[in-house]
Amino acid sequence: MYQAQLTFDQGEETARYVYVSSFKTQLLKWVGNKQRFANEIITCFPIDHGTYHEPFLGSGAILGTLAPKRAIASDACKPLMGIWRLLHDEPDRLALSYRRRWDEFMEDREATYERVKERFNQNHNAEDLFFLARSCYAGIIRFRKDGYMSTPVGPHRPITPESVENRIRIWRKRTVGTDFRCQDFAETMQLAKAGDLIYCDPPYADTQAILYGAQVFSLGRLYSEIAAAKERGVFVALSIDGEKRSGRKEIDVGIPDGLFETEKQINCGRSMLRRLQMEGQTLESELVADRLLLTWAAKA
Ligand SMILES: C[S@@+](CC[C@H](N)C(=O)[O-])C[C@H]1O[C@@H](n2cnc3c(N)ncnc32)[C@H](O)[C@@H]1O
Repeated sequence: MYQAQLTFDQGEETARYVYVSSFKTQLLKWVGNKQRFANEIITCFPIDHGTYHEPFLGSGAILGTLAPKRAIASDACKPLMGIWRLLHDEPDRLALSYRRRWDEFMEDREATYERVKERFNQNHNAEDLFFLARSCYAGIIRFRKDGYMSTPVGPHRPITPESVENRIRIWRKRTVGTDFRCQDFAETMQLAKAGDLIYCDPPYADTQAILYGAQVFSLGRLYSEIAAAKERGVFVALSIDGEKRSGRKEIDVGIPDGLFETEKQINCGRSMLRRLQMEGQTLESELVADRLLLTWAAKA
């Protein structure tokens, strides 16, 4: 698919047509996955940029869709980054680990799931997380406050080992030039140089602590890093999900004046209500519109 992308060159507006591949193949299920909006988001990126940095990687929807030549991608969730490292360094081991668990699961769903979950809760290993993400209820890996992964088994049939092997092959190719690190977002952002691009998809301060574990995250710290990167000549794009009104209000209140120069609406006009009842808790979301804030001037 070709899409027009507008750029500004010494005040002149020029339209360039760029090829945007429709990439929809998910490797991982992860709360907040951006796969459905990934094409729309990357068409807002500048065409020419240096290294791509993604400091809140999650399931890497934007990284995989963009497939940059050079990238640094990170997340504070250690077992999650273990999956990405296996994809990069030992893809066959990752595929085999899924196959073994899947075979056992087909023999006895509940017992296998609970065994894998208990083992993961004891040693937080990447291979177990990879299988749990595919087999847990609604693909929602949820950590309790004490760090325990508590999601029950899903009623669905997890994708086959053959499908996983295929996805691993595809994703490895698309991320071969990526340096995967487990670190705080600030460390990754501080590596960006003039002309580089950073895409941030942070958790919502209000709700997501329970979902991702107790990682240290504050919007104030993120805004300072964005301001410092902008000052160095780095392009920074920030996704703000419109689904949580309380979270959105919190984000809006704190945005420093003049930090962002463009706001884009992503996924406008769509509405969806999703409820998940788990252990007496309700996770509820209503998608209205996501916003993408850019530190550079682009056509809104
Ligand atoms: C909304 S999700 C990103 C989703 C991603 N765009 C995708 O498509 O899957 C936010 C991510 O931020 C990570 N995170 C939370 N606090 C962090 C921190 N202080 N530094 C780095 N990553 C953090 C979480 O582990 C989570 O994976």
